[in-house]
Amino acid sequence: MVCAPSKTVIRGEPPLPTDSVNAFYKAMPIRRRVFVLGDRETRSAFKSDLRGRDIVSAKDLSRDELELVFEVADDVLANSSAYSAVLRGRRVALLFVEPSTRTFSSFYIAARRLGGDVLPLNEPEMTSLTKGETLYDTLKMLEGYGVDCIVMRHPSRGAARFAADVVSAPVINAGSGSQEHPTQAILDVYTILKKRGEVDGISLGMLGDLRFSRTVPSLAYLVSNFDDVELHFIAPSALQVRQEVELYLNDRNVKYTKVTRQQDIPDAISRLDVLYVTRLQKERFPDPSEYERLKGSYRVDMDMLRYAKTSLGVMHPLPRVDELDAEIDRTPHAWYFDQASYGLPTRMAIFALVVGEAR
Ligand code: NCD
Repeated sequence: MVCAPSKTVIRGEPPLPTDSVNAFYKAMPIRRRVFVLGDRETRSAFKSDLRGRDIVSAKDLSRDELELVFEVADDVLANSSAYSAVLRGRRVALLFVEPSTRTFSSFYIAARRLGGDVLPLNEPEMTSLTKGETLYDTLKMLEGYGVDCIVMRHPSRGAARFAADVVSAPVINAGSGSQEHPTQAILDVYTILKKRGEVDGISLGMLGDLRFSRTVPSLAYLVSNFDDVELHFIAPSALQVRQEVELYLNDRNVKYTKVTRQQDIPDAISRLDVLYVTRLQKERFPDPSEYERLKGSYRVDMDMLRYAKTSLGVMHPLPRVDELDAEIDRTPHAWYFDQASYGLPTRMAIFALVVGEAR
């Protein structure tokens, strides 16, 4: 379902009385009392407080913080009606300067389900950015309107960090060029947890365009928080994972292999618990002829999966083009549609934790 975004959104509803918001949070199990206003002792006992924080890079999230998000996401799924006023009186801007289906709609629905007001700016050609307005000016204008949070997708690396530096409201990175997509990685890890029961000990393969994909680095960074993780980057050399990712994994002593030869793929596939597939990121190729050369160079189908464990889960951030055969949809390997649906509880949890506090 896609909500038709309305253009006149900041309505400025009065904030809920502090008491009723506090009552909501006080009803939550003890670990979540991190939110309770005025309960400073409890708050200071939590170093994993995400309130007011920017979510720019998956590198910034600790295992504790991630587990807190998952705990709240579980609670959202179990008690969704209890969350209907968590963002009452809060204004969230969705500034999407690049196409998006799932990320935009799930953030939109998440904010609305929490009772927040949403300012959807997802048609870049309709904003003053196309008239030459700078990103800085657009962000400062949003800040001037008193938005409580800016969710931003932008084609440039570094755009989310820049936004976080120039506005005081928390910024959530919904994709910054080929660099990162941390909330996608949060929902990806949540999917693994729901489907597999744990992330520790996972053998995770990533296959496809690992060079220009932004979900791949963020996922690699996030899973590096867990124990005994093994990563397998399956792609030809021209599409292999970027050096910045390797450096980070080396730094954190995460085991990984790069599988670049066709003949090594069956053996790699046979070891995996999860195979994460990505499309060729056409729009990020600096040279269109290189894209043409690599187009169609990989495809995951049942023939490839004959080497896999029966429990193998196949994931994909979507959209898929031709790299993931639809025949997999009918098998228990297909996790990708459930994966997309977990975007909603995880993004509701992120909003609740980052902005869901009474003023
Ligand atoms: C991804 C993205 O935008 O990076 N999609 C998404 O957010 N679900 C992956 C992609 O576009 O290939």
